[in-house]
Amino acid sequence: MQRQKVIAGNWKMHKTVEESTAFGKNFQNKILENSTVGIILCAPFTSLFQIRETLTGNRIGLGAQNMHWEEEGAFTGEIAPAMVKSAGCSYVILGHSERRQLFGETNETVGKKVEAALRHELKPIVCIGETLEERKDGKVETVLDEQMRGALDGIDTAQMQNVTIAYEPVWAIGTGVNATPEQAVEAHQFVRGWLKENIQDGIGQETTVLYGGSMKPANAESLLRNADIDGGLIGGASLDVDKFTELVAIATELS
Ligand code: PGA
Repeated sequence: MQRQKVIAGNWKMHKTVEESTAFGKNFQNKILENSTVGIILCAPFTSLFQIRETLTGNRIGLGAQNMHWEEEGAFTGEIAPAMVKSAGCSYVILGHSERRQLFGETNETVGKKVEAALRHELKPIVCIGETLEERKDGKVETVLDEQMRGALDGIDTAQMQNVTIAYEPVWAIGTGVNATPEQAVEAHQFVRGWLKENIQDGIGQETTVLYGGSMKPANAESLLRNADIDGGLIGGASLDVDKFTELVAIATELS
């Protein structure tokens, strides 16, 4: 099965409503009509609704960067799945390492969020990845196994069609040091093997697995040309419309 390449931007805590809509308009004018690449923008909660209103059509998928797993209630400062959905999102990033490291998310809470997202017909982009220390200690596979076990607990083959995995080594995020293509491919193959073993035979090859961590136009080709790397989850380089457009063009070339 030929998987589509995907370029997803993770804006993190950047861009006001005005800045977000300006990006959306500008970007929409630049993307290639004939590109078959999947494009996703994960904007701050405050910008989501307005960007959806600004973009014409559904060529660009919209995603949130987090959400709570409960339906509603006394959770000051939290956002429910139905709110994310009604703001115009079809995707949601879950378990980003910044959420895990700075805001106490655990494999268990990530699992609850994945289940809630699927229940609301939101497609989760599940982030996994090891720290530098864990890599040095030879624990990459143990960490990825634990994170996937937590995130995908109880998820069946049909649900898995709507799940994207993003392998994001923590040491590569925002550091300018990307994983080598060999390191990324090794991790992606481990993820595919895990899915095959723990969910279903064909799922390992059907699932979209993105790489994230300092991906930019200068290194994207060397990463994306590998069949096991389906695309990128891009932080820093997604903030600049020209760089993000270039990443889409590189992925299109390789499609
Ligand atoms: P980066 O971030 O591209 O700035 O390294 C990637 C991410 O955190 O998703």
